[in-house]
Amino acid sequence: MRNHWSGRLGFILAAVGSAVGLGNIWKFPFITGQNGGGAFVLVYLLAILFCGLPILMAEFVIGRHSQRDVVGAFSVLTPKKGVWKLVGWLNLSAAFIILSYYGVVAGWTLDYLYKAVTGAFSSQSSEAIAGMFGALVTNPEKQLFWFSLFMALCLMAVISGVKNGLERWNKVLMPTLFVILFVMAGYALTTSGAKEAFKFMLYPDFSKMSMSGFLEAVGHSFFTLSLAMGAYPMAIRIAFLDTFVAIVAGLAIFPIVFSVGLKPGAGPGLIFKTLPQVFATIPFGSVLAVIFFILMAFAALSSAISLLEVLAAYMIDEKKMNRKAATAIMTVAVYLAGIPSALSYSTLGKVKLLPGKEILDSLDYIASNYMLPLGGLLIAIYVGFVLDKKISKMEITEEGRSSLTIFSIWFFTIRFIAPIAMLVVFLTKIGVIKL
Ligand code: TRP
Repeated sequence: MRNHWSGRLGFILAAVGSAVGLGNIWKFPFITGQNGGGAFVLVYLLAILFCGLPILMAEFVIGRHSQRDVVGAFSVLTPKKGVWKLVGWLNLSAAFIILSYYGVVAGWTLDYLYKAVTGAFSSQSSEAIAGMFGALVTNPEKQLFWFSLFMALCLMAVISGVKNGLERWNKVLMPTLFVILFVMAGYALTTSGAKEAFKFMLYPDFSKMSMSGFLEAVGHSFFTLSLAMGAYPMAIRIAFLDTFVAIVAGLAIFPIVFSVGLKPGAGPGLIFKTLPQVFATIPFGSVLAVIFFILMAFAALSSAISLLEVLAAYMIDEKKMNRKAATAIMTVAVYLAGIPSALSYSTLGKVKLLPGKEILDSLDYIASNYMLPLGGLLIAIYVGFVLDKKISKMEITEEGRSSLTIFSIWFFTIRFIAPIAMLVVFLTKIGVIKL
Protein backbone atom coordinates (compact mmCIF):
# COMPACT_ATOMS: atom_id res chain seq x y z
CA MET A 1 0.00 0.00 0.00
CA ARG A 2 1.09 3.53 -0.63
CA ASN A 3 1.06 6.11 2.09
CA HIS A 4 -1.80 8.49 1.85
CA TRP A 5 -1.52 11.97 3.18
CA SER A 6 -3.20 12.36 6.49
CA GLY A 7 -5.42 15.39 6.45
CA ARG A 8 -5.35 18.59 4.51
CA LEU A 9 -2.37 20.23 6.14
CA GLY A 10 -0.07 17.30 5.49
CA PHE A 11 -1.17 17.39 1.90
CA ILE A 12 -0.51 21.08 1.43
CA LEU A 13 2.86 20.88 3.11
CA ALA A 14 3.85 18.00 0.88
CA ALA A 15 2.65 19.85 -2.18
CA VAL A 16 4.44 23.08 -1.32
CA GLY A 17 7.56 21.12 -0.42
CA SER A 18 7.41 19.48 -3.81
CA ALA A 19 6.69 22.63 -5.79
CA VAL A 20 9.14 25.05 -4.17
CA GLY A 21 12.62 23.93 -5.04
CA LEU A 22 15.52 24.49 -7.37
CA GLY A 23 13.00 25.42 -10.04
CA ASN A 24 12.22 28.62 -8.18
CA ILE A 25 15.62 29.61 -6.90
CA TRP A 26 18.03 28.19 -9.45
CA LYS A 27 16.13 27.75 -12.68
CA PHE A 28 13.68 30.63 -12.83
CA PRO A 29 16.34 33.35 -12.48
CA PHE A 30 18.70 31.84 -15.02
CA ILE A 31 16.12 31.18 -17.72
CA THR A 32 14.66 34.64 -17.15
CA GLY A 33 18.16 35.98 -17.69
CA GLN A 34 18.63 33.96 -20.86
CA ASN A 35 15.30 34.95 -22.34
CA GLY A 36 15.60 38.68 -22.04
CA GLY A 37 13.84 39.38 -18.72
CA GLY A 38 10.47 41.16 -18.50
CA ALA A 39 8.81 39.68 -21.57
CA PHE A 40 9.69 36.21 -20.34
CA VAL A 41 8.39 36.95 -16.84
CA LEU A 42 5.09 38.12 -18.32
CA VAL A 43 4.68 35.07 -20.53
CA TYR A 44 5.64 32.84 -17.61
CA LEU A 45 2.91 34.38 -15.43
CA LEU A 46 0.36 33.84 -18.20
CA ALA A 47 1.62 30.29 -18.67
CA ILE A 48 1.13 29.56 -14.96
CA LEU A 49 -2.38 30.99 -15.09
CA PHE A 50 -3.61 29.40 -18.31
CA CYS A 51 -1.54 26.22 -18.60
CA GLY A 52 0.30 25.25 -15.41
CA LEU A 53 -2.47 25.89 -12.91
CA PRO A 54 -5.43 24.40 -14.85
CA ILE A 55 -3.40 21.32 -15.74
CA LEU A 56 -2.24 21.01 -12.15
CA MET A 57 -5.93 20.92 -11.21
CA ALA A 58 -6.55 18.32 -13.92
CA GLU A 59 -3.81 16.14 -12.48
CA PHE A 60 -5.37 16.59 -9.10
CA VAL A 61 -8.62 15.20 -10.50
CA ILE A 62 -6.80 12.24 -11.98
CA GLY A 63 -4.70 11.54 -8.91
CA ARG A 64 -7.42 11.99 -6.32
CA HIS A 65 -10.04 10.03 -8.12
CA SER A 66 -7.86 7.09 -9.06
CA GLN A 67 -5.65 6.97 -5.95
CA ARG A 68 -3.03 5.42 -8.17
CA ASP A 69 0.40 6.16 -9.61
CA VAL A 70 0.78 8.25 -12.78
CA VAL A 71 0.55 5.25 -15.12
CA GLY A 72 -2.02 3.14 -13.29
CA ALA A 73 -4.35 6.10 -12.85
CA PHE A 74 -5.34 5.90 -16.51
CA SER A 75 -6.24 2.21 -16.35
CA VAL A 76 -8.42 2.88 -13.32
CA LEU A 77 -10.24 5.85 -14.81
CA THR A 78 -10.65 4.71 -18.41
CA PRO A 79 -9.91 0.97 -18.47
CA LYS A 80 -11.00 0.56 -22.09
CA LYS A 81 -8.80 3.32 -23.45
CA GLY A 82 -5.37 1.81 -23.02
CA VAL A 83 -3.46 4.34 -25.13
CA TRP A 84 -3.85 7.00 -22.48
CA LYS A 85 -1.50 5.03 -20.28
CA LEU A 86 1.21 6.29 -22.63
CA VAL A 87 0.66 9.77 -21.18
CA GLY A 88 1.40 8.28 -17.78
CA TRP A 89 4.56 6.77 -19.19
CA LEU A 90 5.60 10.08 -20.69
CA ASN A 91 5.20 11.83 -17.33
CA LEU A 92 6.94 9.02 -15.50
CA SER A 93 9.92 9.22 -17.85
CA ALA A 94 10.02 12.99 -17.44
CA ALA A 95 10.14 12.58 -13.65
CA PHE A 96 12.98 10.08 -14.03
CA ILE A 97 15.06 12.33 -16.25
CA ILE A 98 14.41 15.39 -14.12
CA LEU A 99 15.45 13.68 -10.91
CA SER A 100 18.66 12.44 -12.53
CA TYR A 101 20.01 15.94 -13.12
CA TYR A 102 18.12 17.60 -10.27
CA GLY A 103 20.36 15.64 -7.92
CA VAL A 104 23.43 17.11 -9.60
CA VAL A 105 22.25 20.69 -9.13
CA ALA A 106 21.20 19.89 -5.56
CA GLY A 107 24.76 18.66 -5.12
CA TRP A 108 26.03 22.13 -6.09
CA THR A 109 23.88 23.49 -3.29
CA LEU A 110 25.55 21.12 -0.83
CA ASP A 111 28.97 22.23 -2.01
CA TYR A 112 27.97 25.87 -1.51
CA LEU A 113 26.65 25.01 1.94
CA TYR A 114 30.04 23.52 2.73
CA LYS A 115 31.74 26.63 1.38
CA ALA A 116 29.45 28.81 3.51
CA VAL A 117 30.20 26.80 6.65
CA THR A 118 33.95 27.01 6.07
CA GLY A 119 33.71 30.75 5.39
CA ALA A 120 34.92 30.49 1.82
CA PHE A 121 32.94 33.54 0.65
CA SER A 122 33.94 36.07 3.25
CA SER A 123 36.06 38.97 1.95
CA GLN A 124 36.41 37.44 -1.50
CA SER A 125 36.31 39.58 -4.64
CA SER A 126 33.37 39.17 -7.00
CA GLU A 127 35.66 37.62 -9.62
CA ALA A 128 36.91 35.06 -7.10
CA ILE A 129 33.34 34.19 -6.11
CA ALA A 130 32.12 33.90 -9.69
CA GLY A 131 35.13 31.70 -10.44
CA MET A 132 34.20 29.20 -7.73
CA PHE A 133 31.31 27.89 -9.77
CA GLY A 134 33.45 26.98 -12.75
CA ALA A 135 35.98 25.35 -10.47
CA LEU A 136 33.25 23.20 -8.95
CA VAL A 137 31.51 21.99 -12.07
CA THR A 138 34.71 21.19 -13.93
CA ASN A 139 35.88 18.95 -11.12
CA PRO A 140 34.53 15.44 -11.79
CA GLU A 141 35.39 14.02 -8.36
CA LYS A 142 33.63 16.81 -6.52
CA GLN A 143 30.63 16.57 -8.82
CA LEU A 144 30.27 12.87 -8.22
CA PHE A 145 30.85 13.25 -4.50
CA TRP A 146 28.09 15.82 -3.94
CA PHE A 147 25.68 14.15 -6.34
CA SER A 148 26.16 10.81 -4.57
CA LEU A 149 25.74 12.42 -1.18
CA PHE A 150 22.51 14.09 -2.21
CA MET A 151 21.01 10.93 -3.70
CA ALA A 152 22.00 9.03 -0.56
CA LEU A 153 20.25 11.66 1.57
CA CYS A 154 17.14 11.27 -0.55
CA LEU A 155 17.14 7.52 -0.22
CA MET A 156 17.78 7.62 3.50
CA ALA A 157 15.06 10.19 4.09
CA VAL A 158 12.48 8.05 2.35
CA ILE A 159 13.58 4.64 3.65
CA SER A 160 13.99 5.68 7.27
CA GLY A 161 10.61 7.37 7.31
CA VAL A 162 12.31 10.67 8.18
CA LYS A 163 10.48 11.95 5.16
CA ASN A 164 7.23 12.38 7.07
CA GLY A 165 9.06 14.36 9.70
CA LEU A 166 10.63 16.38 6.92
CA GLU A 167 7.21 17.39 5.72
CA ARG A 168 6.44 18.80 9.12
CA TRP A 169 9.78 20.60 9.08
CA ASN A 170 8.66 22.29 5.91
CA LYS A 171 6.16 24.19 8.02
CA VAL A 172 9.10 26.02 9.59
CA LEU A 173 11.67 25.83 6.83
CA MET A 174 9.55 27.19 3.98
CA PRO A 175 8.50 30.40 5.77
CA THR A 176 12.11 30.90 6.89
CA LEU A 177 13.25 30.53 3.30
CA PHE A 178 10.74 33.20 2.24
CA VAL A 179 11.93 35.56 4.96
CA ILE A 180 15.58 35.11 4.02
CA LEU A 181 14.84 35.60 0.34
CA PHE A 182 13.01 38.79 1.27
CA VAL A 183 15.93 40.07 3.28
CA MET A 184 18.27 39.25 0.42
CA ALA A 185 16.01 40.93 -2.12
CA GLY A 186 15.73 43.95 0.19
CA TYR A 187 19.49 44.15 0.37
CA ALA A 188 20.00 43.53 -3.33
CA LEU A 189 17.63 46.37 -4.15
CA THR A 190 19.93 48.80 -2.33
CA THR A 191 22.87 47.96 -4.59
CA SER A 192 23.84 49.91 -7.68
CA GLY A 193 22.29 47.41 -10.08
CA ALA A 194 18.77 47.70 -8.61
CA LYS A 195 17.36 50.10 -11.16
CA GLU A 196 18.61 48.13 -14.12
CA ALA A 197 17.36 44.90 -12.53
CA PHE A 198 13.87 46.32 -12.06
CA LYS A 199 13.78 47.41 -15.64
CA PHE A 200 15.15 44.09 -16.80
CA MET A 201 12.63 42.00 -14.88
CA LEU A 202 9.52 44.10 -15.22
CA TYR A 203 9.70 45.87 -18.56
CA PRO A 204 8.54 43.45 -21.26
CA ASP A 205 10.77 43.92 -24.28
CA PHE A 206 9.53 41.28 -26.71
CA SER A 207 12.33 41.97 -29.16
CA LYS A 208 14.64 40.22 -26.67
CA MET A 209 12.57 37.03 -26.57
CA SER A 210 12.41 34.40 -29.28
CA MET A 211 9.77 31.73 -29.85
CA SER A 212 11.80 29.29 -27.76
CA GLY A 213 11.19 31.66 -24.87
CA PHE A 214 7.46 30.97 -25.07
CA LEU A 215 7.98 27.23 -24.93
CA GLU A 216 10.52 27.66 -22.15
CA ALA A 217 7.92 29.65 -20.15
CA VAL A 218 5.22 27.02 -20.65
CA GLY A 219 7.65 24.23 -19.79
CA HIS A 220 8.83 26.00 -16.69
CA SER A 221 5.27 26.57 -15.52
CA PHE A 222 4.96 22.77 -15.40
CA PHE A 223 8.37 22.17 -13.92
CA THR A 224 7.96 24.63 -11.11
CA LEU A 225 4.51 23.35 -10.14
CA SER A 226 5.80 19.75 -10.10
CA LEU A 227 3.45 18.60 -12.80
CA ALA A 228 3.45 14.90 -13.51
CA MET A 229 3.36 14.36 -9.82
CA GLY A 230 -0.21 13.26 -9.24
CA ALA A 231 -2.63 14.60 -6.73
CA TYR A 232 -3.01 18.07 -5.23
CA PRO A 233 -5.83 20.15 -3.81
CA MET A 234 -5.32 23.80 -3.04
CA ALA A 235 -3.72 24.14 -6.43
CA ILE A 236 -4.42 27.86 -6.68
CA ARG A 237 -2.65 28.72 -3.46
CA ILE A 238 0.26 26.48 -4.28
CA ALA A 239 0.68 28.06 -7.69
CA PHE A 240 0.53 31.55 -6.20
CA LEU A 241 3.07 30.81 -3.49
CA ASP A 242 5.41 29.03 -5.85
CA THR A 243 5.37 31.88 -8.36
CA PHE A 244 5.87 34.41 -5.61
CA VAL A 245 9.01 32.65 -4.38
CA ALA A 246 10.43 32.65 -7.90
CA ILE A 247 9.82 36.37 -8.38
CA VAL A 248 11.39 37.26 -5.03
CA ALA A 249 14.37 35.08 -5.91
CA GLY A 250 14.69 37.05 -9.14
CA LEU A 251 14.59 40.32 -7.21
CA ALA A 252 17.37 39.06 -4.97
CA ILE A 253 19.54 38.00 -7.87
CA PHE A 254 19.26 40.46 -10.75
CA PRO A 255 20.33 43.59 -8.86
CA ILE A 256 23.54 41.74 -7.97
CA VAL A 257 23.95 40.54 -11.54
CA PHE A 258 23.97 44.14 -12.74
CA SER A 259 25.89 45.55 -9.76
CA VAL A 260 28.84 43.26 -10.29
CA GLY A 261 28.62 43.35 -14.08
CA LEU A 262 27.67 39.73 -14.76
CA LYS A 263 25.65 38.81 -17.83
CA PRO A 264 21.99 37.95 -17.07
CA GLY A 265 22.26 35.15 -19.63
CA ALA A 266 25.12 33.46 -17.76
CA GLY A 267 23.19 30.17 -17.58
CA PRO A 268 22.89 27.53 -14.85
CA GLY A 269 25.66 29.09 -12.75
CA LEU A 270 23.84 32.40 -12.38
CA ILE A 271 22.67 32.14 -8.78
CA PHE A 272 25.86 30.46 -7.61
CA LYS A 273 27.89 33.32 -9.00
CA THR A 274 25.68 36.06 -7.58
CA LEU A 275 24.18 35.11 -4.21
CA PRO A 276 27.51 34.48 -2.48
CA GLN A 277 28.40 38.06 -3.37
CA VAL A 278 25.49 39.18 -1.21
CA PHE A 279 26.82 37.08 1.63
CA ALA A 280 30.31 38.48 1.19
CA THR A 281 29.11 42.04 1.75
CA ILE A 282 25.87 42.04 3.78
CA PRO A 283 26.11 42.32 7.62
CA PHE A 284 26.13 38.85 9.21
CA GLY A 285 26.63 37.50 5.69
CA SER A 286 28.53 34.41 6.72
CA VAL A 287 25.74 33.31 9.05
CA LEU A 288 23.08 34.14 6.48
CA ALA A 289 24.96 32.14 3.87
CA VAL A 290 24.88 29.02 6.01
CA ILE A 291 21.19 29.40 6.78
CA PHE A 292 20.33 30.15 3.17
CA PHE A 293 22.12 27.15 1.70
CA ILE A 294 20.68 24.84 4.36
CA LEU A 295 17.21 26.02 3.40
CA MET A 296 17.93 25.69 -0.28
CA ALA A 297 19.26 22.18 0.25
CA PHE A 298 16.09 21.29 2.15
CA ALA A 299 13.91 22.77 -0.57
CA ALA A 300 15.82 20.69 -3.11
CA LEU A 301 15.55 17.59 -0.94
CA SER A 302 11.79 17.81 -0.50
CA SER A 303 11.30 18.35 -4.24
CA ALA A 304 13.64 15.50 -5.10
CA ILE A 305 11.81 13.24 -2.67
CA SER A 306 8.52 14.07 -4.39
CA LEU A 307 10.06 13.07 -7.72
CA LEU A 308 11.37 9.87 -6.22
CA GLU A 309 7.90 9.15 -4.84
CA VAL A 310 6.38 9.43 -8.30
CA LEU A 311 8.82 6.80 -9.52
CA ALA A 312 8.50 4.54 -6.48
CA ALA A 313 4.69 4.76 -6.55
CA TYR A 314 4.76 3.24 -10.01
CA MET A 315 6.77 0.23 -8.79
CA ILE A 316 4.57 -0.14 -5.72
CA ASP A 317 1.19 0.12 -7.48
CA GLU A 318 2.00 -1.56 -10.77
CA LYS A 319 4.78 -4.00 -9.89
CA LYS A 320 3.47 -4.76 -6.38
CA MET A 321 6.84 -4.06 -4.86
CA ASN A 322 7.25 -3.02 -1.25
CA ARG A 323 8.01 0.61 -0.51
CA LYS A 324 11.64 0.18 0.55
CA ALA A 325 12.62 -2.00 -2.39
CA ALA A 326 10.83 0.27 -4.84
CA THR A 327 12.54 3.35 -3.48
CA ALA A 328 15.96 1.72 -3.41
CA ILE A 329 15.70 0.39 -6.97
CA MET A 330 14.54 3.71 -8.34
CA THR A 331 17.23 5.65 -6.51
CA VAL A 332 19.93 3.40 -7.90
CA ALA A 333 18.50 3.67 -11.42
CA VAL A 334 18.25 7.44 -11.22
CA TYR A 335 21.71 7.65 -9.69
CA LEU A 336 23.26 5.73 -12.57
CA ALA A 337 21.33 7.80 -15.08
CA GLY A 338 22.53 10.98 -13.38
CA ILE A 339 26.24 10.25 -13.58
CA PRO A 340 26.61 11.65 -17.12
CA SER A 341 24.88 14.84 -15.94
CA ALA A 342 27.28 15.09 -13.04
CA LEU A 343 30.17 14.92 -15.50
CA SER A 344 28.53 17.35 -17.95
CA TYR A 345 31.04 20.15 -17.58
CA SER A 346 34.14 18.10 -16.88
CA THR A 347 34.91 14.65 -18.24
CA LEU A 348 31.97 14.74 -20.66
CA GLY A 349 32.19 18.47 -21.36
CA LYS A 350 32.51 17.94 -25.09
CA VAL A 351 29.34 15.87 -25.37
CA LYS A 352 26.43 17.99 -26.60
CA LEU A 353 23.11 16.15 -26.83
CA LEU A 354 21.36 19.21 -28.25
CA PRO A 355 23.30 21.75 -30.32
CA GLY A 356 25.48 23.84 -28.02
CA LYS A 357 24.07 22.28 -24.85
CA GLU A 358 25.94 20.04 -22.43
CA ILE A 359 24.31 16.86 -21.13
CA LEU A 360 22.68 18.39 -18.06
CA ASP A 361 21.36 21.38 -19.99
CA SER A 362 20.09 19.14 -22.79
CA LEU A 363 18.22 16.81 -20.45
CA ASP A 364 16.68 19.75 -18.67
CA TYR A 365 15.63 21.19 -22.01
CA ILE A 366 14.14 17.95 -23.30
CA ALA A 367 12.28 17.10 -20.10
CA SER A 368 10.99 20.59 -19.30
CA ASN A 369 10.36 21.94 -22.76
CA TYR A 370 9.15 18.89 -24.62
CA MET A 371 8.10 16.08 -22.31
CA LEU A 372 6.27 18.07 -19.62
CA PRO A 373 4.40 20.33 -22.09
CA LEU A 374 3.44 17.37 -24.30
CA GLY A 375 2.31 15.42 -21.24
CA GLY A 376 0.40 18.48 -20.06
CA LEU A 377 -1.28 18.99 -23.42
CA LEU A 378 -2.42 15.38 -23.50
CA ILE A 379 -3.66 15.57 -19.90
CA ALA A 380 -5.71 18.64 -20.80
CA ILE A 381 -7.27 16.79 -23.72
CA TYR A 382 -7.85 13.71 -21.59
CA VAL A 383 -9.54 15.51 -18.73
CA GLY A 384 -11.33 17.93 -21.04
CA PHE A 385 -12.74 15.44 -23.53
CA VAL A 386 -12.13 11.80 -22.56
CA LEU A 387 -12.69 11.53 -18.84
CA ASP A 388 -16.28 11.61 -17.61
CA LYS A 389 -17.10 15.25 -16.79
CA LYS A 390 -18.93 14.14 -13.64
CA ILE A 391 -15.65 12.95 -12.13
CA SER A 392 -13.96 16.30 -12.69
CA LYS A 393 -16.92 18.19 -11.39
CA MET A 394 -17.07 16.09 -8.27
CA GLU A 395 -13.36 16.46 -7.54
CA ILE A 396 -12.98 20.15 -8.35
CA THR A 397 -16.10 21.21 -6.46
CA GLU A 398 -15.23 18.77 -3.67
CA GLU A 399 -18.57 17.05 -4.12
CA GLY A 400 -20.49 20.28 -4.33
CA ARG A 401 -18.86 21.87 -1.29
CA SER A 402 -16.98 24.52 -3.21
CA SER A 403 -17.55 26.89 -6.09
CA LEU A 404 -19.17 25.81 -9.31
CA THR A 405 -17.91 29.00 -10.99
CA ILE A 406 -14.31 27.94 -10.48
CA PHE A 407 -15.17 24.58 -11.95
CA SER A 408 -16.77 26.17 -15.02
CA ILE A 409 -13.87 28.55 -15.65
CA TRP A 410 -11.39 25.75 -15.15
CA PHE A 411 -13.25 23.34 -17.41
CA PHE A 412 -13.39 25.87 -20.23
CA THR A 413 -9.69 26.61 -19.82
CA ILE A 414 -8.72 22.96 -19.78
CA ARG A 415 -10.80 22.19 -22.88
CA PHE A 416 -9.96 25.15 -25.04
CA ILE A 417 -7.52 27.76 -23.76
CA ALA A 418 -4.70 25.56 -22.43
CA PRO A 419 -4.57 23.05 -25.31
CA ILE A 420 -4.86 25.68 -28.03
CA ALA A 421 -2.26 27.94 -26.43
CA MET A 422 0.14 25.04 -26.02
CA LEU A 423 -0.44 23.71 -29.49
CA VAL A 424 0.28 27.12 -31.02
CA VAL A 425 3.48 27.45 -28.98
CA PHE A 426 4.57 23.94 -29.94
CA LEU A 427 3.83 24.24 -33.63
CA THR A 428 5.50 27.63 -33.83
CA LYS A 429 8.57 26.32 -32.05
CA ILE A 430 8.99 23.39 -34.40
CA GLY A 431 8.37 25.67 -37.36
CA VAL A 432 4.96 24.41 -38.56
CA ILE A 433 3.33 27.78 -37.83
CA LYS A 434 5.28 30.84 -38.86
CA LEU A 435 4.57 34.09 -37.00
N1 TRP B 1 8.85 21.77 -8.76
C1 TRP B 1 10.16 21.38 -8.30
C2 TRP B 1 11.05 22.60 -8.36
O1 TRP B 1 10.59 23.65 -8.74
C3 TRP B 1 10.72 20.24 -9.11
C4 TRP B 1 9.82 19.06 -9.13
C5 TRP B 1 9.43 18.31 -8.07
C6 TRP B 1 9.15 18.51 -10.27
N2 TRP B 1 8.57 17.31 -8.47
C7 TRP B 1 8.38 17.41 -9.81
C8 TRP B 1 9.13 18.85 -11.63
C9 TRP B 1 7.60 16.66 -10.69
C10 TRP B 1 8.35 18.10 -12.49
C11 TRP B 1 7.61 17.02 -12.05
O2 TRP B 1 12.19 22.54 -8.03
